[in-house]
Amino acid sequence: MNKLEDPIFLATFVEALRRVNPPPGGRVLALGVNAGHELDALPLAFPDRTFEVVGVDLDPAAAQAARERWPRATIFAADVNALPPDLGRFDLILALSLLQSPGVRQDVLLATLRRQHLTPGGGLILGYPNARYRDGTLSYGARMRNYARPDLSLLAADVTNARRGLQKHGFKVFVTGKYEVLLTAIPAHGATPTDLEL
Ligand SMILES: C[S@@+](CC[C@H](N)C(=O)[O-])C[C@H]1O[C@@H](n2cnc3c(N)ncnc32)[C@H](O)[C@@H]1O
Repeated sequence: MNKLEDPIFLATFVEALRRVNPPPGGRVLALGVNAGHELDALPLAFPDRTFEVVGVDLDPAAAQAARERWPRATIFAADVNALPPDLGRFDLILALSLLQSPGVRQDVLLATLRRQHLTPGGGLILGYPNARYRDGTLSYGARMRNYARPDLSLLAADVTNARRGLQKHGFKVFVTGKYEVLLTAIPAHGATPTDLEL
């Protein structure tokens, strides 16, 4: 399922991309990029801009599919827990439906991204799924083990923690979305490199 086909997700995502507003020719990092469908929103949000796009996914088959879909992007089959420090800094970092994956520590990853991989004016868009497609049917709500009904506790806790941490480090944070909750973080007052070192 390509979630860009959901008009509500697409509109919310395009709005978030425009909030971050990476400059023409800027660098975009997509973590957990899978087959690269989410990258298709970039030309929709910014029809007159091109970007240097880097994608990362643990799954080599997904990384290969992203390469075929986005031949001009650089796609690595790698673990986001061990990003190469020489990856450089980015004007926009995407992590959609990634942060709740097994083995990913949101707090550790966000600190690394903030310190090592964001430009001073750069922003983040983090996606937290509030729905899953199973056999073509949309199942609403975050599933929790041992709960009979979908429950939003984990999603709420993860979004709250990410929001609090980013605000503490000088970001203005927006939380939007429906089936995927999008947290968008942009520098609150024009960040300085010092902010990024904290
Ligand atoms: C649920 S999919 C989301 C894909 C896409 N970003 C989207 O929103 O549709 C999660 C992706 O993250 C990748 N992933 C999970 N853990 C990862 C890790 N530690 N490092 C890199 N990629 C990871 C998976 O291989 C998968 O492609």
